[in-house]
Amino acid sequence: MKILVTGGAGYIGSHTVIELQNAGHEVVVVDNLSYSSEVALQRVAEITGKEVTLYQVDIRDRAGLNRVMDKHSFDCCIHFAGLKAVGESVSLPWEYYDNNITGTLVLLDVMRKYGCKNIIFSSSATVYGDPAVIPITEECPKGQCTNPYGHTKSMLEQIMMDIQKADPAWNVVLLRYFNPIGAHQSGAIGEDPNGIPNNLMPYITQVAVGKLKELGVFGDDYDTPDGTGVRDYIHVVDLAIGHVKALAAIERKCGVAVYNLGTGKGYSVLDVVHAFEEATGVRIPYTIRPRRAGDIAVCYSDPSKAEKELGWKARFDLVDMCRDAWRWQKNNPNGFR
Ligand code: NAD
Ligand code: UFG
Repeated sequence: MKILVTGGAGYIGSHTVIELQNAGHEVVVVDNLSYSSEVALQRVAEITGKEVTLYQVDIRDRAGLNRVMDKHSFDCCIHFAGLKAVGESVSLPWEYYDNNITGTLVLLDVMRKYGCKNIIFSSSATVYGDPAVIPITEECPKGQCTNPYGHTKSMLEQIMMDIQKADPAWNVVLLRYFNPIGAHQSGAIGEDPNGIPNNLMPYITQVAVGKLKELGVFGDDYDTPDGTGVRDYIHVVDLAIGHVKALAAIERKCGVAVYNLGTGKGYSVLDVVHAFEEATGVRIPYTIRPRRAGDIAVCYSDPSKAEKELGWKARFDLVDMCRDAWRWQKNNPNGFR
C-alpha cells in the first residue's frame, strides 16, 4: 500500500516507517519537524536501505497538504502528528486544541477531497481515564481525562467515529497505545524528548547516562504491590508492527475498529528501575516524591482483541525494552542533536 505517515519523523512514527518499509509498503512522511529531526529519517533510510520522502508541512496547512496529495495517491494515512506532553497541555490548552484538533480536521478534509478515506489514528489509554475495569478491554467505557492532551485524543476519536457514521466509505482504526518505551535494536533511533523528560523511561536513561542526578518516584502509597504506579510498557518496535498489522482492518473495510496496543502486563515504577539495572548493569539512584497530579494507580491492557482480529501480539519483554532504550541513549547522549 502507499501510506501517508503524519508525524513520521517522531518517536513512534520513525519506528513505524521502518516496519512499513520492511513489509514492502511505500511511505511518504508529512512532519513539521516541530518536535523531531530530519536526522531520524536519514537513520531510518540507513536501516532499511530505502529512501523516505519527507514533506516538511504542518497538518494545519491546507495548501501544503494539497500539494502533497497532488503528487501522491494514498491508500491510507497513519496519523501520528500531534503534541503529546500532558503537563504542557495544561498550560497551553489553546495550542494543544489547535495543533491536535484543528490539524486533524484539516487533514481529514484534505483526505476526503482526494478520495483517501482510510485512517489509522494514534490514540491513547488515557481515554479510559481512571479505568473502570482492569485489565482494560476496548469495551471499558471511556473515562474522565484530567488534561487537554487527553481531551484531544478522546474528542478526535469521537470526531472520526462521527465522520465514519455519516460517510461509511471511511475506515477508521483507533489504536489506543499503552506506554511505549524502548528503541530500535540498531540504537540509531529512539525517543528524543526536549528538555527534562516527563516520562519514566527517558528520565531513567538520562540518569543512567549522567545527565540527571536521580529519578524521582512519584508516590509509593498507591494500592499496588510496592505502592508505586503500575503501567503496561510496550516496546516501540512491537507498537510499530501493530500499525502494519492494523492495515488488515483497513483492507477488510472495518468501518470503525478500536484496538488496545499493550502487552497485558503491568509493571510498577520500581519494577522498571530494577529491570533497567538488570538489563544494563547501571544503577539508578532514586528518591520517593509526592504523587504527580493526574496520575492513576494502575493501567494495563487486555490486548487479546488485537491478537484475535489482527494477529498481533507484543513479543519483547521489559528487559528487552530497557536494553534497547539504553543502547539508544548511550550511543546518542544528546539525542539527534
Ligand atoms: P513525537 O512528538 O515524537 O512525534 C510527533 C510528531 O508529530 C513529531 O515529529 C512532530 O514534529 C510532529 N508534529 C506535531 N505537530 C505537527 C503538525 N501540526 N504538523 C505536522 N507535524 C506535526 O511523539 P510520539 O511519541 O511519536 O507520538 C506519536 C503519536 O502517538 C502522537 O499523536 C501521540 O499523542 C500519540 N501517543 C503517544 C504516546 C507516547 O507515550 N509516546 C502514548 C499514546 C499516544
Ligand atoms: N514516573 C515517575 N517518575 C518520573 C516519571 C514518571 O515515578 O520521573 C511514574 C509515573 O508516576 C507513572 C509511571 O512512572 O506511575 C509512568 O509515567 P509516564 O509519565 O512515563 O507515563 P504515563 O502513564 O503517565 O503517561 C503515558 C503517556 C501519556 C498517555 C498515558 C496513557 O505519556 O501520553 O501514558 O496512555 F496519555
